[in-house]
Amino acid sequence: MQMLLELKNVKRGFAGPMGAVDVLRGISVSVEAGSALAILGPSGCGKSTLLYLMGALDVPTSGQVLLDGRDLTDLTDDERAKVRNTRIGIVFQAHHLLAQLTVRENVLVPALVTGVTDEVEERARRLLDRVGLADRMGHTPSTLSGGERQRVAVVRALVNSPGLLLADEPTGSLDRATGDALGDLLLELNREEGTALVVVTHSETLAARMDRVLTLTDGKLDPAKENT
Ligand SMILES: Nc1ncnc2c1ncn2[C@@H]1O[C@H](COP(=O)(O)OP(=O)(O)OP(=O)(O)O)[C@@H](O)[C@H]1O
Ligand SMILES: [Mg+2]
Repeated sequence: MQMLLELKNVKRGFAGPMGAVDVLRGISVSVEAGSALAILGPSGCGKSTLLYLMGALDVPTSGQVLLDGRDLTDLTDDERAKVRNTRIGIVFQAHHLLAQLTVRENVLVPALVTGVTDEVEERARRLLDRVGLADRMGHTPSTLSGGERQRVAVVRALVNSPGLLLADEPTGSLDRATGDALGDLLLELNREEGTALVVVTHSETLAARMDRVLTLTDGKLDPAKENT
């Protein structure tokens, strides 16, 4: 069976003042369509770096990143951007909302490329309602709390119905109840729409709700050790 996303011996290093820093040292992992994967690991271990590679925002120093069987490293920047816009939703660790736009406009940004149809508008409204922000559609990000902004960023990532949702600490600035509700939303979309999830998190509670939990340590991904 063809995997949705496949990383083969992916390495990513950065040039630094003290020489090269090898952050990812040979990552091989497959994500099936419709599955849900959590990635745990200490601060600075390379989780965001890994997510950028999965999200076609960055290319590895060596190794392959295959989406729908196509090697993303072979694509031009324009082709990669198209794949990202149509197939992938990304929730960034820093949410990157556009300050001048309202909540409604922010969540519709990914749809601008293909066109904002009534259907997309309706989906945006429904998703905002599900995260409890239906009455904030006309607000700008500066008038929202950190957790509210994070929920807007999640809706924006979902508006184009991506096959793959990558989320970097999506519950990082949420209280327990709001974080649980966001976890509910992600898992409901995973079940209802078959959206594959890759969630980077420090929350063991959220991680435990995914099908699979891996830990990133010393630049390698390993099955998470059971808490005994
Ligand atoms: N563009 C870059 N240039 C140089 N070094 C980088 C770059 N991006 C990341 N790094 C380095 O790679 C390492 C991993 O960074 P990354 O942001 O992936 O960590 P993380 O696991 O997401 O941490 P956190 O949990 O704090 O978000 C860090 O040491 C960082 O300094
Ligand atoms: Mg990070």
